[in-house]
Amino acid sequence: MLIDGHGRVVDYLRVSVTERCNFRCQYCMPQKPFSWVPKENLLSFEELFLFIKVAIDGGIKKIRITGGEPLLREDLDKFIAMIYNYNNSVDLALTTNGFLLPQCALQLKEAGLKRINISLDSLNPQTAHRIAQKDVLDAVLKGIDRALEVGLAIKINMVPLKGINDHEIIDILEYSRDKGVEARFIEYMENDHASSQIKGMHGREILEVIKSKYEIHKIGRSGSSPSFAYRLNDGTRFGLIDPHKHDFCESCNRIRLSAEGFLIPCLYFDEALSIAQYVKSGDIEGAAAVLATILKDKPKENRWSESQSSDTTQSSSRAFYQTGG
Ligand code: 5AD
Ligand code: SF4
Repeated sequence: MLIDGHGRVVDYLRVSVTERCNFRCQYCMPQKPFSWVPKENLLSFEELFLFIKVAIDGGIKKIRITGGEPLLREDLDKFIAMIYNYNNSVDLALTTNGFLLPQCALQLKEAGLKRINISLDSLNPQTAHRIAQKDVLDAVLKGIDRALEVGLAIKINMVPLKGINDHEIIDILEYSRDKGVEARFIEYMENDHASSQIKGMHGREILEVIKSKYEIHKIGRSGSSPSFAYRLNDGTRFGLIDPHKHDFCESCNRIRLSAEGFLIPCLYFDEALSIAQYVKSGDIEGAAAVLATILKDKPKENRWSESQSSDTTQSSSRAFYQTGG
């Protein structure tokens, strides 16, 4: 079992396979052109897999593949199959913007993937375009349908932004209900790479919007999930992820691995240690030692504050496109 310096069991690893993305979501990516980490700095799937074996042997039970946009990485299905064939009881999931799912959902399912979270911030083509800075909606909706068709379990992620898509919270909830999937509303997490123009919504504001049409009931947090579950009278479930409250940090069970091989103990902080040199030379013990240090020093909680005012809310300098949210 992997236990961190605050006594929390860590059994969840998020692996970013690329920081590149085919979208430029305003809450995630810089607007001006910037340069990606050169491809030769990325770990190969074999190198990532070497660490993943160390992590699974240590006690990791859930792995989520993230990006950037993970489906941009060639042969991702082969990487998923490597993990699945090593230990098919690992809960294997992926977070994607959905754009490439029409082409690859079936291969992913056949490789052993169980679950997908798909970002859907708007059902209006112009608004979706405005947020992702690309005409994306049609492909994403087709991707959602294709994922359901091949039997992948899916969840829909929405980041409500004031004055942009805040009037679509109920539309996304109803769309998800009609598809038989859970919607999750995520508070915008302030970070230095996002557009400075945008303003997120607090969890309580998101709930107020839903309450204007539906009666809602608290279900609660399941296990270490950052998502707090609610249900409507008809049984429809939805989730709220509110990092500005720190209460889910208490049961945080996760660490992150970047595509370059940095082990990241907390989404908020810049601290990270590289396992690259160890996995490149096949030094399993070296990689395990870095993992032990990261666990020992994992921060207690993030610093997004609960403050009402975004002026006093701390912004993270960590790039979400490197950690996959
Ligand atoms: N705040 C909240 N959620 C974010 N995501 C990306 N950046 C942010 C942010 N700054 C979410 C996306 C996607 C997942 C990868 O992370 O909506 O669902
Ligand atoms: Fe790409 Fe996801 Fe960032 Fe949007 S949020 S730009 S889809 S990595």
